[in-house]
Amino acid sequence: MKTLLIAVISALLVACANATKTTQDDSLYRALGELEGIESITHRFINEIGFNREIITHFSDTDLGRFKEKFIEQICFESGGPCEYTGDSMQQVHRGMDITEGEFNATVNALTAAMDTEGVDKRTQNRLLKKLAPMRGDIIYQ
Ligand code: HEM
Repeated sequence: MKTLLIAVISALLVACANATKTTQDDSLYRALGELEGIESITHRFINEIGFNREIITHFSDTDLGRFKEKFIEQICFESGGPCEYTGDSMQQVHRGMDITEGEFNATVNALTAAMDTEGVDKRTQNRLLKKLAPMRGDIIYQ
């Protein structure tokens, strides 16, 4: 009986440890307002891009419906949400655009402005920007 009890408790402990290991941190996703929040931010972001002549020229031949869909997927995925990113790699997408550092910064500012308008707090904004920052090298001067 004692052996059985020990075996059951051990099995439960292993199961708990595995559950903790595989649970992903979706706190950023939730702070962004989940899918609905990310959709609103992306909508505003695209509006902001439209106001910036420097950035918008890059989008003259772009299917904005696809861009919106893939951007939402990416933000959802990067923030720990239940999405898969099905778009192309950042290097593939931005290759040949010769995006400058200034244009990259202007795009980040457009995203920040979109998040401000949607009432996303600065800490959450910075957490998201930290996730996107490593992509910079795959986006500029390609
Ligand atoms: C961290 C910054 C950025 C992220 C996370 C990002 C993300 C994305 C994503 C997810 C797509 C869609 C991919 C697909 O269709 O498979 C995309 C496309 C695009 N991005 Fe970016 N991007 C960033 C910065 C920029 C900048 C700085 C510019 C230009 C100033 C830019 C211009 C474009 C354009 C023009 C497209 C559409 C390409 C096409 O028409 O096929 N992106 N980006």
